[in-house]
Amino acid sequence: MYENNREVMQTAVLAGIDTGEYDAEYSMRELEGLAEASGAHVAAVMIKKRRVLEAATLLGSGAMAELREICRANEADLLIFDCELTPSQQRNIADLTDTAVIDRTMLILDIFAQRARSSEGRIQVELAQLKYMLPRLTGKGMSLSRLGGGIGTRGPGETKLETDRRHVRRRIESLEGKLRTIEKQRKRIRDRRRHDGFQTVALVGYTNAGKSTLMNALTDAGVLVKDQLFATLDPTARALTLPDMKTVILIDTVGFISRLPHQLVQAFHSTLEVAADADLILNVCDASDPMAYSQIDVTRSLLDELGCAGIPVIHVMNKCDRLSAAGEPEMMRDCVMISALERRGLDQLLQKISDRLGGFSRVRFFIPFSEGGKLAKIRESCAVLSEEYTDAGYSVTAMADARQLAGIGAEYELLHLEKGNENEKN
Ligand code: GTP
Repeated sequence: MYENNREVMQTAVLAGIDTGEYDAEYSMRELEGLAEASGAHVAAVMIKKRRVLEAATLLGSGAMAELREICRANEADLLIFDCELTPSQQRNIADLTDTAVIDRTMLILDIFAQRARSSEGRIQVELAQLKYMLPRLTGKGMSLSRLGGGIGTRGPGETKLETDRRHVRRRIESLEGKLRTIEKQRKRIRDRRRHDGFQTVALVGYTNAGKSTLMNALTDAGVLVKDQLFATLDPTARALTLPDMKTVILIDTVGFISRLPHQLVQAFHSTLEVAADADLILNVCDASDPMAYSQIDVTRSLLDELGCAGIPVIHVMNKCDRLSAAGEPEMMRDCVMISALERRGLDQLLQKISDRLGGFSRVRFFIPFSEGGKLAKIRESCAVLSEEYTDAGYSVTAMADARQLAGIGAEYELLHLEKGNENEKN
């Protein structure tokens, strides 16, 4: 919705139900952050405790009347429910409160739609939106027209909202085809990276934990940093030099959130797969957040879902500048306390990364023809990446750790990633 080129802020009322399944108050604060991230002004919040939910409207007629009044008094354009609504619940609640209604999933999809920049990101978001909409395009249809633009109607899918299911299915097939092509390209790039012997380190974690700030502090990536949920959607890769002078590739990924819509997890699989393919994962969390440990768990279970269970993880407790001594969270195994903003603890983190990667480096040996025995040793003990003959002898590129280098006793140089090549390798 634009007026004189300025986006008109929508006024939203938030509604949540405390069923005891999760911390409803925390989830509500998160929903507030999400609503603000999508450009809404949150005017009021209502949480109701319920053990049993009504099939048609989740809450009973009394609560519906209360919500209608809150929306009226605040001149709300939008009512956002913290839980997922069925199409008929959405319609019924909209009728009873006389306000447009969306749920948490739709809100997150909307934020992703606003943030997607790359063509891949846009395809992924559109696919997730269409998959969310498809079962809702039945009977009377999704009463989206009453949203009249704004949150829940943006993104690549917005013109398709009321077209027929067949058209949506065809579009889904075409987008899935495009994604398969992109996934193949990504796989080729990953294979080449492996072939080149570069190890990768993936930055993952809850949204707003400080991943991009850490990426910028460790490299000169210039990644967008914002106190905003889901500021970064497209992965960025940069070369990172470790204390042992080895170069690895550091990749910043999309942030996680609890109850991330499964349509998004599916659609963003190839982006999130960056983590599944990494040699090491840095699970970044905001140590100053009272829910830090549950955020780590959300990230952990999403990583498991993505097939990352066997990959070594370092837990990075960020924003420790905000901690008072009394408020320090309990240290966990393989955990490093840092402040990406104040660049504290980064040396320990780099050392830990180096230790966990096992100290393997990509090196080039020079072996004179007269020392053929050393060539045999390299072939026997190291992962050889390439061999060439020069006028002076053999030039062999291989992965080797300090012990192997000492055992071979040949002249070598450490190889680094050429500047500017990292993103091509992402
Ligand atoms: P998403 O893109 O949503 O996944 O976020 P992100 O994890 O990349 O977080 P980002 O780096 O954008 O930082 C989010 C906010 O936290 C910004 O306002 C940062 O300035 C702030 N921040 C990051 N690291 C620190 C830190 O060490 N200390 C403090 N106090 N703030 C930090």
